[in-house]
Amino acid sequence: MCGIVGYAGDRPCRDILFRGLRKLEYRGYDSAGISVITEGQFDLLHSVGNLDRLEEILNQMPNQSHLGIAHTRWATHGRPSNENAHPHLDCTGRFAIVLNGIVENYLALREQLQGEGHEFTSETDAEVVAHLIERAFRGDLREAAAEAFRQMEGHFTYVAITTEDPETMVAVRKETPLVIGLGEKENFLASAVTAFLSETRTVIFPDDAELVTVTRDSVVITDLDGNVIERQAEEVDWDEDAAEKGGYETFMLKEINEQPTALADTLAERVTHEGRVELEGLGLEDGDIRRLRQVIIVACGTSHHAGLVGKYALEKWARLPVEIDVASEFRYRDPVIGPDTLTIAITQSGETADTLAAMRLARQAGSKVLAITNIVGSQATREADGVLFTRAGLEIGVAATKTFEAQVLAVILLALYLAEVRGHLADEYVKQLTEEIRRVPTMLNGYLEDGRLAQIEAVATRYAKERFFLYLGRNIGLPVCMEGALKLKEISYIPSESYAAGEMKHGPIALLDEGSPVVVVATDGHTYEKLISNIQEVKARGAHVIAVASEGNKAIADMADEVFYVPKTDEVLSPLLATVPLQLFAYYVATANGESVDQPRNLAKTVTVE
Ligand code: M6R
Repeated sequence: MCGIVGYAGDRPCRDILFRGLRKLEYRGYDSAGISVITEGQFDLLHSVGNLDRLEEILNQMPNQSHLGIAHTRWATHGRPSNENAHPHLDCTGRFAIVLNGIVENYLALREQLQGEGHEFTSETDAEVVAHLIERAFRGDLREAAAEAFRQMEGHFTYVAITTEDPETMVAVRKETPLVIGLGEKENFLASAVTAFLSETRTVIFPDDAELVTVTRDSVVITDLDGNVIERQAEEVDWDEDAAEKGGYETFMLKEINEQPTALADTLAERVTHEGRVELEGLGLEDGDIRRLRQVIIVACGTSHHAGLVGKYALEKWARLPVEIDVASEFRYRDPVIGPDTLTIAITQSGETADTLAAMRLARQAGSKVLAITNIVGSQATREADGVLFTRAGLEIGVAATKTFEAQVLAVILLALYLAEVRGHLADEYVKQLTEEIRRVPTMLNGYLEDGRLAQIEAVATRYAKERFFLYLGRNIGLPVCMEGALKLKEISYIPSESYAAGEMKHGPIALLDEGSPVVVVATDGHTYEKLISNIQEVKARGAHVIAVASEGNKAIADMADEVFYVPKTDEVLSPLLATVPLQLFAYYVATANGESVDQPRNLAKTVTVE
């Protein structure tokens, strides 16, 4: 997730662009850049680190230009560096582009362009756009940008400018945000309204594959063939705070709604057209993978729950014994580790002190260490033998939501990849699974748009004053319960316990009384029938059951007091869907009680102390 700003107008634009970037810093801040056109030439600034670094050198660029583009980066392809920072130029230095998103076929395009003599200066996927536009340019930037778009796969937004037409910027989007701001003798482009809210509140939201051509005095929207599309401008009445949250009340709610994108980004380029999983940068040769005898997973909090899902997937598909521990315990154990052990450390921040210590212990004992993290350049990436990046974008809410979903997907992909290399799964079975995985972001998107949030909110509001919740699940539904219970604890401060449903009669059932709320993850799977018996047991004690179940399961409605239906999918993939109503349930319980969900008491987003 990156932030893009563009300006064409009467005023000198350097500082306007920089102020816009400041408002988009929440979208990423590992490097940044600005490119403006002054007297027919590009001026270009790049910096590594957050926007303070760019601000320090901003005066090196004259503030005379009236057209320019700017970018704040969240690295996905290529480490944070000056070379990889946007804007990117083509070989001739006539075209500059900024891009947000992922160009999935960039390697094929890059090879093709290099074969034709184009020289690349960065490791990014984005740079291909500058060269594609250079190749397609016949005097019309809009046509060249359209031609580039036709050749690109993935989900992205880009803005292009050229010294050949220094009054014009052209932008296009595909499944990633783009908004146009309309001013007096000036117009703006950005990833989010917040970038130009202090300048104008008149906006247009273009659709996918619509070319937006912007000058000081005009905004023209066309389809890829140049046919004009009429779009009505609208007025936004958000305040700056709301705009930063994309119109959502909180970052947490925004991030819950960003989960389909986090999944699509994490999946991008990792499944081949033939349906195989391909993962790069793991630091493992095929021979290493075949020799593995054991996997250890270490993580904390929500990341530990993602690891628990991974345990089921790794055992089922890769047939590897998996041991999982919270990092704060693992680091003080004397674990049995050998050269045939792979240790997987899961940490969204890549900076959690206990997880880093557990990684060091595993490495010293001779294990290869693979980090699954969301942050390029984090400490975990420096200390691991290999890295599998989740691509959830920056998460601001202290309660992890979209990073959990991306971790679960990453560990599922890893399990499939190890299974393939170890020859444990038939190609056809892997293909079916990867086809289903590809459907999940769309299913989740449909789920979030389907008006179901209102039902969850209504139920949560009714139960918001309860003093204790028990969460029950079995098998792969158990980590979902653990995550649901953790979300409730951390943002609503209501005690909650998550338990393996089969263990309930060994103790926790004593907690139940008339009306006690029990949340049960009862999605379809091979332990479903067993879970139904557990539901009967708690109902017999007068408890109220709130069930998460697969769509189409009508029978459960007769047993449970409330049902949150989720789309039906493969059992191992079910946590990707079943967790979401529990995130929302926790969210709405907390908001009904007036709690500050983005900054819960006593917690920090990243725990860098022991
Ligand atoms: O950055 P990490 O994934 O290593 O963080 C681990 C935990 O601190 C984190 O998941 C924490 O439990 C979250 N607040 C959960 O919402």
